[in-house]
Amino acid sequence: MSVFVTFWPVWPSTLPVLEYYGVFQVKQSKKPCYLVRPIWPTKVSGRYLAHQQGLPKLPVPPLKQTFEHYLTVLEPIVSEQELLHTRKLVAEFVSPGGVGERLQKGLEQRARKMENWLADWWLHTAYLDYRMPVVVHSSPGVVLPRMDFNDGQGQMRFAAKLIAGVLDFKTMIDNETLPVEYLGGSPLCMNQYYQILSSCRIPGLKKDSVVNYARSKRAPTFITVVHNYQFFVLDVYNSDGTPLTADQLYMQLEKMWNSSLQTNKEPVGILTSQHRNTWAKAYSNLLKDKTNKESVHAIQKSIFTVCLDAPMPRVSDEMYRSRAALQMLHGGGSRRNSGNRWFDKTLQFIIGEDGSCGLIYEHAPAEGPPIVSLVDHVVEYMRKTDMVRSPMVPLSMPRKLRFNITPEIKADIEKAKQNMNIMVQDLDMKVLVFPHFGKNIPKSHKMSPDAFIQVALQLAYFRMYRRCCSTYESASLRMFRLGRTDTIRSASIDSLDFARAMDDSAKLNTEKVALMEKAVKAHRTYTDMAIRGQAIDRHLLGLRLQAHDDLISIPKVFMDTSYAVAMHYNLSTSQVPAKTDCVMCFGPVVPDGYGVCYNPMEDHINFSVSAFNSCAETNATELAHGLEGALLDMKVLLEQTPKARL
Ligand code: COA
Repeated sequence: MSVFVTFWPVWPSTLPVLEYYGVFQVKQSKKPCYLVRPIWPTKVSGRYLAHQQGLPKLPVPPLKQTFEHYLTVLEPIVSEQELLHTRKLVAEFVSPGGVGERLQKGLEQRARKMENWLADWWLHTAYLDYRMPVVVHSSPGVVLPRMDFNDGQGQMRFAAKLIAGVLDFKTMIDNETLPVEYLGGSPLCMNQYYQILSSCRIPGLKKDSVVNYARSKRAPTFITVVHNYQFFVLDVYNSDGTPLTADQLYMQLEKMWNSSLQTNKEPVGILTSQHRNTWAKAYSNLLKDKTNKESVHAIQKSIFTVCLDAPMPRVSDEMYRSRAALQMLHGGGSRRNSGNRWFDKTLQFIIGEDGSCGLIYEHAPAEGPPIVSLVDHVVEYMRKTDMVRSPMVPLSMPRKLRFNITPEIKADIEKAKQNMNIMVQDLDMKVLVFPHFGKNIPKSHKMSPDAFIQVALQLAYFRMYRRCCSTYESASLRMFRLGRTDTIRSASIDSLDFARAMDDSAKLNTEKVALMEKAVKAHRTYTDMAIRGQAIDRHLLGLRLQAHDDLISIPKVFMDTSYAVAMHYNLSTSQVPAKTDCVMCFGPVVPDGYGVCYNPMEDHINFSVSAFNSCAETNATELAHGLEGALLDMKVLLEQTPKARL
């Protein structure tokens, strides 16, 4: 009980015992608590802040520890010669009284002064300073199973229920009654939940910014809806503050639908898919017109956006999820739904007339887990709630947002269309539902499912390329206040030894199993280190940025080949678990790389694998199939060698 009090110092003393016990139970279960009903039905002011203040601050790992680990992670991915050279640079960097110590002190001082020494740097380096288009290069999508409608009516009915579900989730955010999530028994920072609604990215000439209206005095009470490239403002609350019912929302959507039947409109939204510098110039041009400025502002301020998409080309059932993933990530091109978006908007739900359904989100404010947790809630809400007829209350016509298109804006739109079509042509995507097993099999062999999947991925990659590569897996830093992510480096000497042994006929199965177990354990150990704030990547970044802040030249250790190889992630991966049978997807982070995301369910695993068509060496389908083979081979190996493992 005392632990509870530590985390909730301002919990109202009037809290009924039952509710109080409900929270305590959640804490004791040590599990992430998705889809739990709010533990308090009305606003609990200060609860969020109290929780946040109870969280530890992100530590700065010891300098020598980081560089020891750094040399270890380089071993499987660089040559001996390069490693030898790097060892010398590292020894010089960490030597007593050297540059490393000085930068480390600077970092430690920063950590004492700030709530989170990394948060701001990370936001800028990873997102706001990044100049590539957010489409494909940054924003992840989520694909849900195809829904059972195939016309505008079904699409709008579904959209209405979905909007009602998101508003239900928003009530928990507004009331500060969202159940706290846990990882490995520790409570997590909940800040990201407060960043995903009523927010938007804004392009800038050198760097972007993010605006968030959720906590402003005049927080928005409307969403934006886009259909046939035409944006509307839809008020979703009544004057007494209650949300519109799904039935009312449906009627409003129908009005919008009927007034946006023409398809000859300029797809202004496609401008947001441009390279950030190009978009920033087009943005200032667009906003010279007062009407345009007001329209853009409405989109930015809205709680979220709903994109009512035109049907996409039909494909076989097997191809459906891959095609839907592309629809979520880029919309299918300028002749399809790419203009039916505002890619800077933090959260856009996408519902196609053909039953396709999912979302895309702009990555700067949040990671995937809070987004899919919202999706889980909405899906459950929709499953439980029937659309009931509401009493007829006259509701005003949703406002269409107008844009005045000058010849210059038109030229910007044409350029954006061309670039979008190039991106569409270049993205190769395979969504694979691995049906043979899920978390159950690794668990039955007393192995971490995530580590098992990562080791399988290493095996699949090795089989394709006869080498391993720098691999990134996101690790949550949300145990710390304002924590985002660090990197689990999945390519290790142990995973390489296992991959080499797996297809070596001279090796006994018992040896292979021992190597597999070692690789899986090594991965889990790295994961534990990462989620406790002791991984190397954000620390290395911090030291580099500290050098920049101190106006000293970038240390040689960050300028050599090994560092460049280590930062070139041919495999960029992430686990985003959900209760819903969905999968998140994203593009590769390097031209010759893959983006791999997965949702391990109990008895199957959903994977998305992306690559670029312009790279002759990569092939998303081939890696996905290789991954399927690797997972199956690992299972068979474990089953065939039971005794040796005791
Ligand atoms: N034996 C039996 N069961 C085991 C086990 C073992 N040796 N090791 C783990 N398990 C169980 C766990 O208890 C857990 O059980 P549950 O399904 O009942 O909850 C399950 O297996 C999953 O554990 P594991 O596979 O080890 O992964 P994890 O849930 O600890 O997740 C990370 C690992 C790295 C994904 C997670 O720590 C993380 O950081 N997630 C955030 C990633 C992120 O932010 N991604 C988004 C980027 S946009």
